[in-house]
Amino acid sequence: MHARPPIVLPEHAAFQTCAVRWVRHWNEHLFSFAIERPASFRFRAGEFVMIGLEVDGKALMRAYSIASPTWSDEIEFLSIKVEDGPLTSRLQLVRPGDQVYLGKKPTGTLVADALLPGKRLFMLATGTGLAPFLSLARDPDIYDRFSQVVIVHSTRRVSDLAYHDELTAQLAGDPLVADQALLQFHYIATVTREPFRTTGRIGQLIENGWLFQPPVLGDRALNPETDRIMLCGSNAMIKDFAHMLEGHGFTEGSNANPGSFVLERAFVG
Ligand SMILES: Cc1cc2nc3c(=O)[nH]c(=O)nc-3n(C[C@H](O)[C@H](O)[C@H](O)COP(=O)(O)OP(=O)(O)OC[C@H]3O[C@@H](n4cnc5c(N)ncnc54)[C@H](O)[C@@H]3O)c2cc1C
Ligand SMILES: NC(=O)c1ccc[n+]([C@@H]2O[C@H](COP(=O)([O-])OP(=O)(O)OC[C@H]3O[C@@H](n4cnc5c(N)ncnc54)[C@H](OP(=O)(O)O)[C@@H]3O)[C@@H](O)[C@H]2O)c1
Repeated sequence: MHARPPIVLPEHAAFQTCAVRWVRHWNEHLFSFAIERPASFRFRAGEFVMIGLEVDGKALMRAYSIASPTWSDEIEFLSIKVEDGPLTSRLQLVRPGDQVYLGKKPTGTLVADALLPGKRLFMLATGTGLAPFLSLARDPDIYDRFSQVVIVHSTRRVSDLAYHDELTAQLAGDPLVADQALLQFHYIATVTREPFRTTGRIGQLIENGWLFQPPVLGDRALNPETDRIMLCGSNAMIKDFAHMLEGHGFTEGSNANPGSFVLERAFVG
């Protein structure tokens, strides 16, 4: 029930208005929500789009990775709640029926087309950097391109592990990828500031071989010939991993020139 009237946004030349369908709060720092997908809205798994609200008579927009798969009739996002954040201090209050603005042109480099063919795909995420990988892992195409698809998610706290149960269940309830995911998809979660079954940053899990244990099959280290990597997280995480991967012989890919790893900054910080 709405304790206030729903948010109705004025028409905007550059943005579409879309109604919120559902909202799920994970903890005091994180929430997910989905909006109706306009019939004309097309994107590739892994891309981001601008979304926002009207603040002081102007559209206040921020980049957001799309978390839902390309076939869905809704567009899902995973969002941080920044206490004094110009957008997220307001966005975290949206409810079903409220309107948000949606940009018309999704874009980004975190797409399968920017990667050379390979065998294992490792999607390495910190914090909300998980979002684009939720889209990719729910896209049937990724299971045709790679024999193994591995999401590695690192958070500070256990309650920051959004989608933990769905991912641990290897996307069992998913209408399109459940069968392939059961055989090809793996989820490795690590929590760095609370006790958990796996602790340590992703870099440590690569160095000590934790990432390459069964059910993940194949080499016990990263191999630039057959492994492909997608990175999404903070500036510091991206910088550290890009440096490390280049040291191991990986090359950064782009839409025009595919390579063995790709990256996107999930936020500046
Ligand atoms: C390509 C791209 C994709 C993005 N995708 C997402 C996404 O899927 N989900 C999402 O929540 N955010 C995403 N962001 C960040 C997003 O654009 C906003 O920064 C975020 O919504 C906060 O907006 P704000 O106006 O409240 O605060 P801002 O003024 O935008 O940010 C304030 C500060 O909060 C911190 N911060 C901002 N975003 C995050 C975050 N995601 N995780 C941790 N700390 C953060 C940073 O220190 C930042 O300086 C993305 C950013 C880029 C560039
Ligand atoms: N999540 C929270 O509980 C929390 C609480 C209060 C405020 N915030 C604010 O929210 C913002 C982002 O927090 P966040 O937790 O989403 O993101 P974050 O600080 O990037 O941490 C997410 C995960 O990434 C790891 N990490 C950070 N830098 C890395 C690097 N260079 N290489 C590899 N791994 C790295 C962290 O490990 P380490 O733990 O080892 O750093 C953690 O496991 C910050 O500005 C923070 O102040 C978050």
